[in-house]
Amino acid sequence: MVNHLRSADWYQGTDRNAYIHRAWMRRGLPEDAFDGTRPQIAIANTASDLTPCNMHLNEVAESVKQGVWAGGGVPYNLPVVSLGETQVKPTAMLWRNMAAMAMEEMFRANPIDGLVLLGGCDKTIPALLMAAASVDIPAVVVPGGPMLTGHFRGQALGCGTDVWRLSEEARAGTITNGEFLQSEQSMIRSKGHCNTMGTASTMAIVAEALGMTIPGFAGTPAADARLLSLSHDTGRLIVDMVAAGRKPSDIMTRESFLNAIIAVAAVGGSTNSVVHLLAIAGRLGIDLTLDDFDAAGSRVPVLANLQPSGTFLMDDLYRAGGVLALLSQVKDLLHPEPITVTGVPLVDYLVDRPVYDETVIFPREAPLMDDAGIAVLRGNLAPRGAIIKPAAATPALLQHVGPAVVFDSIEDLRARIDDPDLDVTADSVLVLRGCGPRGYPGMPEVGNMPLPRKLLEQGVRDMVRISDARMSGTAYGTVILHAAPEAAAGGPLAFVRTGDIIRLDVTGRSLSFDVTDEELQSRSRTPASDAAYAAPVRGWERLYVDHVMQADTGADLDFLVGASGDKVSRESH
Ligand code: FES
Repeated sequence: MVNHLRSADWYQGTDRNAYIHRAWMRRGLPEDAFDGTRPQIAIANTASDLTPCNMHLNEVAESVKQGVWAGGGVPYNLPVVSLGETQVKPTAMLWRNMAAMAMEEMFRANPIDGLVLLGGCDKTIPALLMAAASVDIPAVVVPGGPMLTGHFRGQALGCGTDVWRLSEEARAGTITNGEFLQSEQSMIRSKGHCNTMGTASTMAIVAEALGMTIPGFAGTPAADARLLSLSHDTGRLIVDMVAAGRKPSDIMTRESFLNAIIAVAAVGGSTNSVVHLLAIAGRLGIDLTLDDFDAAGSRVPVLANLQPSGTFLMDDLYRAGGVLALLSQVKDLLHPEPITVTGVPLVDYLVDRPVYDETVIFPREAPLMDDAGIAVLRGNLAPRGAIIKPAAATPALLQHVGPAVVFDSIEDLRARIDDPDLDVTADSVLVLRGCGPRGYPGMPEVGNMPLPRKLLEQGVRDMVRISDARMSGTAYGTVILHAAPEAAAGGPLAFVRTGDIIRLDVTGRSLSFDVTDEELQSRSRTPASDAAYAAPVRGWERLYVDHVMQADTGADLDFLVGASGDKVSRESH
């Protein structure tokens, strides 16, 4: 039985405003659409022709709509800001908070009792969850699903991962540039998002581990008929959730965030999940810190043999039993209390979940990698923390001492990295600054810097790289990211000089450079530090630069931390 609906503040009554709200919406809706018993459900839809990974979501929305009708609700398609990871400049991350803010305001401003959140490409599920958490009305995620596996010359192609790999092989001269370009036609085989364990796949699994999808939904391929059937089921479910008053804050608790961290570790998920989980938790007022990622995730074995850490792709994970089969392997590590959108705890879904292919989902007792997760490093190079994904790194480089080769921007790096006279060896540490949230602005995915051509030609395929940037979840290498504070906020990264000795000790969780405090104080500011940074003069970039927080707290805007709730505002007429 439905209790008082939020939408009743628009539709109930006999006054002029209730008349206006109802009359303009009728347009063929059933007579009882606004009788106070039928929840009004918005399908927050990130479909866009400029977000190729989400292009199919209008079809998905139709299935959700059918489910909402079948459940007794009234569905509405609500197009929301969409972000195509490969298309948007300077980086989709600059716009994640804008998308989340716009979504939040539209969710609150409209006569909505429940939300179905349709996402896929990297930033879309994080933005949707941040917005839903801020408004805190019943909400459920429909993950748009990965694409099918494409092949090139008989070999499976991993979206993103193989772009990085093949482009480096072309630079090394082991394949021609023509061969590299030929693979372009085969990279994207079907609708859906990247098929590696990149950020989109990771965030779909994060949504499921948080309890925000129908259990078993994440990882369902976009082209699989079961995606539409689960979308229909989700439409029915949201009507029940409204009746039960089951809100995001009931589902996303500190313990469910810890479960999500464990899930990310077990699948070898993207480093981008760190900034997204911190930002979502911030919207709920949950005390989640960078250290929680290390404490909860670093002793978890990697079980998913998926690119970029392993071999296979998302279609294979689904075939091998899917996310629930994988999570059932680490069930004992998960917190048992957190419920899902169904009201039933996640762990209750982790029984009788066989693994059908142990080359894809490794058994707990013989994992792909022990104790991986995401390691948090601290030291005089990153006093507030930096992160590394050991599963994607070269084990021999996890303890390393070498001289810095510093680049002040990505343009500086591109201009010099292939210079035959660049003073660099395989032992050097590449340092890139000016790429943090404030400095770029927007914290682009450039942390997996290309290696110097002359080293590639010598057979070098990995080096220690450090930056205040992010990297694509599809990327790999011994790459230290999210150094905080960033250079543009006056962090120590701004004061490193080429030739400084850098010390990396992942086991000891430290990252430092050989400079005394006195020497550091005496060093002059660099163009990448805040004194020389010219803030944008207007628009979103101005707002962003003035208010963005550092990576160690999720890179949200400072005034968006905490929820504003679902308060119904005043009338406009
Ligand atoms: Fe959209 Fe990878 S570019 S998920």
